This record gives sequence, structure tokens and C-alpha cells, in this order.
Amino acid sequence: MKPGSIPLRHYLQFKDFSAEEYAYLFERAALIKKRFKEYEKYTPLVDRTLAMIFEKASTRTRVSFEAGMYQLGGSVVNLTTGDSQLGRAEPVEDSARVISRMVDLVMIRTFGQTKLERFAAHSRVPVINGLTNEYHPCQVLADVFTFIEHRGSLQGKVVAWVGDGNNMANSWLQAAEILGFTVHVSTPGGYEIDPAVAGITNTGCYKVFKDPMAACQGAHLVTTDVWTSMGFEAENDARRQAFADWCVDAEMMAAARKDALFMHCLPAHRGEEVTGDVIDGPQSVVWDEAENRMHAQKALMEYLVLGRVG
Ligand code: CP
Ligand code: NVA
Repeated sequence: MKPGSIPLRHYLQFKDFSAEEYAYLFERAALIKKRFKEYEKYTPLVDRTLAMIFEKASTRTRVSFEAGMYQLGGSVVNLTTGDSQLGRAEPVEDSARVISRMVDLVMIRTFGQTKLERFAAHSRVPVINGLTNEYHPCQVLADVFTFIEHRGSLQGKVVAWVGDGNNMANSWLQAAEILGFTVHVSTPGGYEIDPAVAGITNTGCYKVFKDPMAACQGAHLVTTDVWTSMGFEAENDARRQAFADWCVDAEMMAAARKDALFMHCLPAHRGEEVTGDVIDGPQSVVWDEAENRMHAQKALMEYLVLGRVG
């Protein structure tokens, strides 16, 4: 299919896609994963190039997008702030105009969501959010896919969010609104969810709990994240104190359903937001989540470049 023959779509927030599109993507991800596991070559993106722009550190996002794009037959260009003109104040709009004339897809990890949006507004090709201060949709895409693999649909179920009201929490709330489940949110005071920033219109898709243990009651999935996200390191000491009781431990997992899963986007700090026995225990699916970043993002890249196939 010729470039430009499908309408230009970006993936900047989880809510950029409908429930019906997610159903398609999860099916594609499962098929793409199966082919990968069976060593079956599948290269629909031959001669296509992905540019990755990292303004923050990464392990999983870098490896999953880069390996995924090569497996699909394409190639990858990796840029960071320090080794490109991005770090020397070239306007993001100019960078978008230039980069998007040479590649077929762009993935960006940066600080403010508005920078990503400015890039997308001046890009000729699809732009993917690889994490911003506000959102991390690719991670929640992989996490929902992982839940489906283990337990089936999340519709009507309860996800407990224990910890910071951060980019992951916001993306979980958007997923709840679109896919029809409820998030039980427990954050320390001062680190609450802001529904306006989270970008949700239906506040009925989440419930707030002061006590993290109460948030975990009856949950099908318990999930957390670091106390201090990238870009907020100056708040580290204050956060360590504020978050001390927001550590997912065996007692919290026992408050959840017997068959509850534990997820963490990683990297994790054992002894801070989660105990070692939980993250390394039988309910934890964190390694599946990490692997599924690649399979889910391969489905995402295929969809953004080629539209629906098969
Ligand atoms: N979960 C995640 O995005 O990991 P990285 O920061 O290693 O990319
Ligand atoms: N909330 C974390 C996620 C890291 C993948 C951060 O933004 O640093």
C-alpha cells in the first residue's frame, strides 16, 4: 500500500482509539506473537523506517520498538536529545517537518505532552507516545493485552492502582473509560489523580480510596509504579516519606481476589513500591508485560502504517 493511502492517525493517548479498534489490535497482537513464537517470518513493513526520539532514559521501550520494527522487516533510526539538534533548541515543529519527510513512523519519549502534540501537529507520518509526563499508552496497551492472555476481557472488572497519580495511572483511567472496567485508585495525599489531566470525561470509571488495602479489596488486578517518575527526581526525598505506606505487599495481594494478577510497568524498586515476594511471586506477570510491549507495539505499528490487514 502506498504511503498516504490511509488517513493519518497518531497514538498520543490511550483514548485515541475506540474499544472496537482495541479489540482488533489485541487480536492482531496475539496473531503476531504466535507467528514470532513459531519462528514464522512476517515482514509487512519492509522498506519502512521508524524514528525513535528519546529525551528520557529507556530499556523496554527502546528494545521493544527497535526489535519489533526489525522483525516486521523495517529499520530504525534512534535519536536522543544529546546527540541531535533537539538538544540545541531546534524548534520541535521544524524537527517534525524534517524527520517526517524521511521516515514512515515516529515514536517519541519526552517530558510534556504538549511537546509531543506539537510534533504530531507538524508530522506527515503517524506519531506514537513512548511515554510523557502525563501518559504511557503503549504500556497500558501491553498490560491490557497481558491481562486478556491470562484472564480474558477486563470489561466489568476491577483494577487497583496503588501509588502515584502519574502517567501510568492516567492511562489506566483512560483504558477504564474506553474498555469498560473500574480503577480503584489509592494515592498519598498531594499525589492524587486529576481527572482533567487524566483526560477522562466519565469520573464513574474510577473510585478513590484513602487506604491502599481498601483499594485492593476484590480487585482482579493490582498494579503500581515507581514512587518517583523520570523528571521528578528533585522530589525524591519528599516522595519517599509520603509513599511509605503505598508498597504493594502480600497483605495487599491477599485483600484482592484469589486469582488477582500483579503488574508493574518496570523498572521496579523492590522494597519501595512493591515487595520482592510480590513482584517475584506467583501472581506477578511483569515479565509477560515487558515482553508483550513488543508484540502489542508491532500490532500498533502495523495498524498505523498499513491500516487494517488480513
Ligand atoms: N516500562 C517502560 O516503559 O520501561 P522503559 O523505561 O525501560 O522503556
Ligand atoms: N512512571 C514512570 C514509568 C517508567 C516506565 C516514569 O515516568 O518514569
